[in-house]
Amino acid sequence: MLLDTSALNQQRQRVGDDESVWLFGYGSLIWKADFPFLERRRAFICGWERRFWQGSHDHRGTPEAPGRVATLVASPDAVCHGMAYRITGETLKPLDIREKNGYLREITTLTFDDGKHAEGLVYLATEENPAYLGDAPLDAIAAQIDRAHGPSGANREYLLNLACALRELDVDDPHTFALANRLMPPA
Ligand code: BEZ
Repeated sequence: MLLDTSALNQQRQRVGDDESVWLFGYGSLIWKADFPFLERRRAFICGWERRFWQGSHDHRGTPEAPGRVATLVASPDAVCHGMAYRITGETLKPLDIREKNGYLREITTLTFDDGKHAEGLVYLATEENPAYLGDAPLDAIAAQIDRAHGPSGANREYLLNLACALRELDVDDPHTFALANRLMPPA
């Protein structure tokens, strides 16, 4: 089901057009940075795990046949590695619209490679949003991703691009890799 969260997000943390803010990316933002940014740095956030539990009815699937994309689930001892971008409020606005299906912006603490910290934003889709699909057997999640297509392209492309980007960053992500290996077993 579609839930347009873009207006909600713009009211949650107001960022002036010329102000800058860190945005933590853990999904498509890692491999698809098709927006202007002031800085890009590897980073991680604590207490969260990446999971393909959010339905995609508008990008990598359709309302009739939703795909699955990444969200984060709370897990006290976990660390989620990704990419942080320092962007202006002007850049954040179109991202709010692009990532409108159930994701709400939250404030989080980012840790950079050099151990320094910064406050930033992250898009989270929780089980309270109607597009949330939640857990399922890995084979079923992989099969759903394999057959889903949407206006932004094949769902499998999203998964395989993310798995490839995580490998390049030397990040171990058993959930993402288990799904990707089901679609494209290692040679
Ligand atoms: C991300 O890459 O962090 C992301 C992208 C779209 C929606 C939510 C998160």
